[in-house]
Amino acid sequence: MIMRPTQIKSRHALLLASLSVLLLTASAVAGSTLTQGTAIGGDQRLASPGGVFQLGLFPVANNTRWFLGIWLTASPGAVVWVANRDRPLDASSSGAVTLSGRGDLVLLDAASGNDTIWSSSSSSAAVVARLRDDGNLVLADAAGVMVWQSFDHPTNTFLSGSRAGQDLRTGAVWSASSWRGADDPSAGDFRYVMDTRGSPELHVWKKGRKTFRTGPWNGVRFSGCPDMTTYADLVEYRFTHTADEVSFVYRDRVGSPVSRLVLNESGAMQRLVWDRATLAWRVFWSGPRDQCDVYGACGPFGVCNAVGAVMCGCIRGFVPSSPAEWRMRNASGGCARSTALQCGGGDGFYALRGVKLPETHGSSVDAGATLAECGRRCSSNCSCTAYAASDVRGGGTGCIQWFGELMDTRFIHDGQDLFVRLAMSDLHLLDATKTNKLVVVIAAVITSFALFLLSLGLLIWRKIRQHSKQVTKFDDIVIGECPSYLLETLREATDRFCPKNEIGRGGFGTVYKGQMADGQEVAVKKLSTGNRVQGLKEFKNEVDLIAKLQHRNLVRLLGCCIHYSERILVYEYMSNKSLDTFIFDPRRRATLSWKTRMDIIFDIARGLLYLHQDSRHTMIHRDLKAANVLLDREMVAKISDFGIAKLFSNISGHQVTERIVGTYGYMSPEYAMDGMVSFMQDVYSFGVLLLEIISGRRNQRSFNLIAHAWMLFEENKSLELLDPAMRDGCSPAELEQATTCIQVGLLCVQESPSQRPQMAAVIPMMSHQQALERPLRPVVCMPVSTLADLLNVQEDTSGNVELTITNLEGR
Ligand SMILES: *[C@@H]1O[C@H](CO)[C@@H](O)[C@H](O)[C@H]1NC(C)=O
Ligand SMILES: *[C@@H]1O[C@H](CO)[C@@H](O)[C@H](O)[C@H]1NC(C)=O
Ligand SMILES: *[C@@H]1O[C@H](CO)[C@@H](O)[C@H](O)[C@H]1NC(C)=O
Ligand SMILES: *[C@@H]1O[C@H](CO)[C@@H](O)[C@H](O)[C@H]1NC(C)=O
Ligand SMILES: *[C@@H]1O[C@H](CO)[C@@H](O)[C@H](O)[C@H]1NC(C)=O
Repeated sequence: MIMRPTQIKSRHALLLASLSVLLLTASAVAGSTLTQGTAIGGDQRLASPGGVFQLGLFPVANNTRWFLGIWLTASPGAVVWVANRDRPLDASSSGAVTLSGRGDLVLLDAASGNDTIWSSSSSSAAVVARLRDDGNLVLADAAGVMVWQSFDHPTNTFLSGSRAGQDLRTGAVWSASSWRGADDPSAGDFRYVMDTRGSPELHVWKKGRKTFRTGPWNGVRFSGCPDMTTYADLVEYRFTHTADEVSFVYRDRVGSPVSRLVLNESGAMQRLVWDRATLAWRVFWSGPRDQCDVYGACGPFGVCNAVGAVMCGCIRGFVPSSPAEWRMRNASGGCARSTALQCGGGDGFYALRGVKLPETHGSSVDAGATLAECGRRCSSNCSCTAYAASDVRGGGTGCIQWFGELMDTRFIHDGQDLFVRLAMSDLHLLDATKTNKLVVVIAAVITSFALFLLSLGLLIWRKIRQHSKQVTKFDDIVIGECPSYLLETLREATDRFCPKNEIGRGGFGTVYKGQMADGQEVAVKKLSTGNRVQGLKEFKNEVDLIAKLQHRNLVRLLGCCIHYSERILVYEYMSNKSLDTFIFDPRRRATLSWKTRMDIIFDIARGLLYLHQDSRHTMIHRDLKAANVLLDREMVAKISDFGIAKLFSNISGHQVTERIVGTYGYMSPEYAMDGMVSFMQDVYSFGVLLLEIISGRRNQRSFNLIAHAWMLFEENKSLELLDPAMRDGCSPAELEQATTCIQVGLLCVQESPSQRPQMAAVIPMMSHQQALERPLRPVVCMPVSTLADLLNVQEDTSGNVELTITNLEGR
């Protein structure tokens, strides 16, 4: 690390300050254990052996009320457990924590004659209380056996290793209740409990009303929480369902930051992860996520679709039970069967694909059965209304059978298949493979007749719709795949692709802002396919794959539209537009503090890491640039346009024609010269982007930012690269972080792809968790314009380049 004298001075001051803080806390910390005869009170604390957690008295409401609690040392606001939730102390000086004569841990209040404010009420006498590094306060008896632990009495938080669920032998429940308010830890209105009936799942209740369900455990995650798998590199899950216990536990992986699962005051479950780089908590997941997660939003036999034009629909074979209410968008009454079940051979099953399974508390579960066996069982029991696999692993095994209403079903990313019993007459599709020839013939006749009727109906329906807009429809979706939109729907949403709604234009097409009938804002990307139209099936496959990539730092694909040669993608709308409109704009640039920029850089790194290795379908972006990073309302950065390059590749005969896509300044030498594609192309672009964000300058023909950054680095003047618009506002710690970042940026743009770090290494590097190598001289010290002349490429206004290289395979 290179520092100038002023920096060194401030480093000393910082060191001294932190030392004195250490000394101060040391004087108040009384070890990690409490034994008979010892007590802590006032500002004294227990600290866990590694110092991760502390136990002591903390105040709320301007020091007027005091509670005994445990918090993360690095973030004292993050109180993870409270003892005397409902009986606060008036002052810290009067409180004392000690082991009572009976062997209970007690909190005494001297102001009221040493009244016991709170007691652990342990099962047998404890001789020692120990605060552990996982945040668990454990009481043990003389033989060292645990007699009580705070993990068994959660307040509003679950930590790594603490259980949510129920001990079926003793009936003890491990549940959480929210704080009443930010200043009031007493038990609030919301509770988070395990429903142990049927296939167990976690529920949030508000007083007597259920507000949210996670969906049953499906062997990998909760059926309604697909996000759980997206951070499986940080935490692992264990779900236990035995005769003794039903419980859900997560564990932070070794080396991963501390995370906590909190039921907050507004009834949301949040997964928060401590970011050691920025010293802040990051929300990785929260539930309910949207309107469809609100319990029973579409009533019994309804199915909720968060991205459709209309939120609630009925499962096929069902119709709204109260059409008048439905027209007024009140779907809570749900749906009713249109044709009564025949029982016997007269029924069949309709596969509702990609859903969060309905509530299971009245259902029967057999983990040992196969899915086929499950179908036979349900088919032969007249009261069975639906079935599904209880475990999605290995293509689906185990058996859940429902016997009554199907409640709280919704379409969800990576959802499961639910087989719903319908009268044969309601099933449009017959499974031809299982029927004999005669049936096939009959079916064909029936089907063509049905098709005739259907087209007739469609014609009439169109007519009706033209006359009145009252009829709402729910056929915008293709079940189980990325939703399809009708061209008409998108035309309406964008005012017939009106130029005034245009929000972007690039090599791939034009982007319009649109508003759906239900008010949802979307970004509609009309691809400029020209005559390079990809096959329908390949296009659909690619789009389905893109839609499966979901991450906080990727712009979400909501659906697509295929209409003759027209190809349109529909994305979530980002209100703060793209990053280039900020960092290259002299006025808006000044609004970006160092911290904001750092958050954006980390966001991009995380999104890219997900594309490269964490998602199930890894992907190279190939065109990462400031214009492809969008910012949402909270300035969270999300990467867009991933996977699009693939949509444009075209395979015809034996000749592979690959269109090289990329943008000046962001293309790595090996990609620009040889069309060599690897993850390292993205790392290179990331390095350029990082330097651009920090400096507020564009890497372009007239100014080679990489060469400039390298020159400053060589002269030990790296900090001069910083955007003057924010440099003066930076603290010494931030300047130090900036120096590190610039070095990481230079490591990413090194000439040889094998010398560049992988994305997985970049994040620890930027968080000072990994020693940095000295970067090698980057190659692009050759002026970019030379490169362009060399290649003789075309460039459009946005800087996109397009080259065509044939016979890549032959290289
Ligand atoms: C907190 O207490 C101090 C001193 O009693 C008082 O000056 C201050 O206004 C109080 N703040 C709030 C937010 O109540
Ligand atoms: C309360 O306990 C403290 C310490 O155990 C003791 O010094 C004090 O006399 C007690 N006060 C009363 C009123 O019993
Ligand atoms: C609770 O969490 C939700 C979802 O993350 C958030 O929108 C809400 O603001 C939080 N409420 C409080 C009081 O923190
Ligand atoms: C919605 O419909 C249900 C019955 O279908 C009715 O009981 C309820 O009052 C309605 N709610 C509103 C807000 O109109
Ligand atoms: C159908 O299932 C229900 C619920 O499990 C059970 O009570 C009933 O006996 C079953 N009926 C038959 C005919 O198996």
